Amino acid sequence: MRQFLKELPKCEHHLHIEGSLSPELLFQLAATNRIKLPHDNSAFASISTLEARYEHFTSLDDFLHFYYIGMSVLITSSDFESLAYDYFTRAHKDGVHHAEIFFDPQAHTDRGIAYNTVVTGLVAAQQRAEKDYGLTSKLILCFLRHMTADDALGTYKAASSLGHFSDGTVVGIGLDSSEVGNPPEIFREVYAAASEAGIRRTAHAGEEGDPTYIERALDICNVERIDHGIRLAEDGALLKRVAKDKTLLTVCPLSNVRLRCVSKVADLPIRKFLDSGVRFSINSDDPAYFGGYILDNFYAVQEAFGLSMEEWKYIADGAIKGSWCDEERKTFLL
Ligand code: HPA
Ligand code: ZN
Repeated sequence: MRQFLKELPKCEHHLHIEGSLSPELLFQLAATNRIKLPHDNSAFASISTLEARYEHFTSLDDFLHFYYIGMSVLITSSDFESLAYDYFTRAHKDGVHHAEIFFDPQAHTDRGIAYNTVVTGLVAAQQRAEKDYGLTSKLILCFLRHMTADDALGTYKAASSLGHFSDGTVVGIGLDSSEVGNPPEIFREVYAAASEAGIRRTAHAGEEGDPTYIERALDICNVERIDHGIRLAEDGALLKRVAKDKTLLTVCPLSNVRLRCVSKVADLPIRKFLDSGVRFSINSDDPAYFGGYILDNFYAVQEAFGLSMEEWKYIADGAIKGSWCDEERKTFLL
């Protein structure tokens, strides 16, 4: 079964590229770029103390604190290129054929790194990964929901004015960071603009937030996907609607355990989603922080649920169908 899962053609839809920064690369770039890591936080004493701390996140916000400090070592285009190419190399080994990766421009522009520096590095890695591995990929620009709607709009306009949506450099928009208290409708204006311009739309919802966050993302922001969405299981009517509309949920099992959304993988509503015909993909979210890449997430789900090969084929096919690549690529992957 493990060999079958390894070879299953995979699409990854929920991967924060900044969340693939390993402690090794973090310390290496901190030294190269002369970035001071917080000396008052003993977790940053060494690679091993940092790794140990990552095993004890208490919530999404507790993780985000480390996530934003970690990415502060990323300075040049070449840093972003190394980061992304390392991820693609790892994803290729796990059987990923197509990846749609999130990036958080505001977390970089806010500390003086230009939007274009970030994108130039990521695009260079994407091109190399396609050439070296045949791995296709797309970028999804995420807005930080703890920042204002105006800030999100400014970021959207910066990407738009560079032609990054119209030329396909960036396929869509997303919404991440602290969910509870920062509901999706705050960002309705930027989502309306994206919708109008034919840009793909997703949002993190129903990770820590209750099912109304999912409903509001769908109704008010007109999203086409839901990232995480595990709390959908708490609302039967909404679950039926999501199944009927074939809205893709991008589920991240090891993340949900590490951030204590559930106490174990077996507590996730995977069986309920399968039995109700909900389309979902299995993803790694922030693999360097959550103890596993995509295949580790597949293995964890298999260990907890003992799915059949047919069920895995259904999941893998749904992931291809729910991807934002062109029809030709989908037909090739199916
Ligand atoms: N949730 C919200 N924001 C994030 C996450 C997540 O799992 N990972 C990186 N930013
Ligand atoms: Zn995420």
